[in-house]
Amino acid sequence: MSATLVSNLGWYPASWRSHPARQMPAYADAASVRAIEARLEAAAPVIHVEDAARLRDLTAELAAGRGFLLQGGDCAESFDDPVAEQVAGIVGLFDAMTDRLRANVDGPLVEVARIAGQFAKPRSANDETHEGLTLQAYRGDIINGISFDALARRPDPQRMIRAHMQSVGTAASLAAARGSGSPIFTSHEALLLPYEEPLTRRDGAGRWWATSGHMLWLGDRTRQVDSAHVEYLRGIENVVGVKCGPTINADELLRLIDRLDPLARPGKLMLIGRFGAKKIGDLLPALLRATRDRPVLWAIDPMHGNTSMSGKRKVRRLPDILAEIDAFFAISKAEGVHAGGVHLEMSALDVTECIGGRGPASVDELEKNWLTACDPRLNRAQAIDLAAHVAALLA
Ligand code: PEP
Ligand code: CO
Repeated sequence: MSATLVSNLGWYPASWRSHPARQMPAYADAASVRAIEARLEAAAPVIHVEDAARLRDLTAELAAGRGFLLQGGDCAESFDDPVAEQVAGIVGLFDAMTDRLRANVDGPLVEVARIAGQFAKPRSANDETHEGLTLQAYRGDIINGISFDALARRPDPQRMIRAHMQSVGTAASLAAARGSGSPIFTSHEALLLPYEEPLTRRDGAGRWWATSGHMLWLGDRTRQVDSAHVEYLRGIENVVGVKCGPTINADELLRLIDRLDPLARPGKLMLIGRFGAKKIGDLLPALLRATRDRPVLWAIDPMHGNTSMSGKRKVRRLPDILAEIDAFFAISKAEGVHAGGVHLEMSALDVTECIGGRGPASVDELEKNWLTACDPRLNRAQAIDLAAHVAALLA
């Protein structure tokens, strides 16, 4: 008798419910949440499982030390986004960036957008106060509304239906835009588990896939080994990203890897460092050493560790972003680990959200065209220049 190896023993799509779940909205009416979940269970998948499987084949190559991942898009999508324009914009931006990168990439250049499901946001504070009024924090359009009034800020489960519909449309436009050419895959943070669970579907071989996006990632605030989010992600076949912030240590990361991918399947896990330019030098080497014999892919998110505050504005500076990328390449080289990709927050528009380069020169200029629903993004020119910078590091 041969034993079949299963990676997700004891797992089922709802098994996260018996684990502590952080960053989840408190819906007022449990019955209406259940009704929405039932509708999502009957709804069309956002992506095709075959495409999610294709992405895993590609990340397996990256984990073997060939090729490069370009991942990027909005911090948060919005229900107000004009979808056709948005998709055309991001496709054009990926085209321009991959033009800069391609000649210097040995192996597949894998394109993954933060799109068609990037609607839920983890927050550092549960509420927000303005002029004496305290309301729940905005948690992304899939949960509540961004405007500062009590009704908008109340979590509304109906928003999951709207997010699903917009995601289906966005994913279809994205697939159509590239046709049979090199695809742009979709990704988002797997944060809102009542949305993810009903979109989890079985393939012909009995394996479970998230059909809300090709790749899902675990946020830095929800990566406790016993968390509901880790429990959900350990059961699906999709490529899973793990955001690794400054508070993770090598032991914790190894336990997380063992939990999420006990069979050590090449390219299954994408570790995404986000330490900040000042900290990466102290923190990344030990993590690279600890994971050296794991078939994982290492990438860098140079955005989230390089954020400071100026009043109520989040501030990010291009020199810090580039410095963290430079350090990532240098450390990877020194440790003999493949520098496998970058994970960015970027817009195809001429926004003024990050300081430096072909963007605003100072904090005073951030107001000019600040459009993000959450964190500051690179504008089009900054993103293209960053791609040229990375291309030089790859040469
Ligand atoms: C994000 O990618 O938008 C995000 C919230 O990242 P992190 O979990 O790394 O803070
Ligand atoms: Co963000």
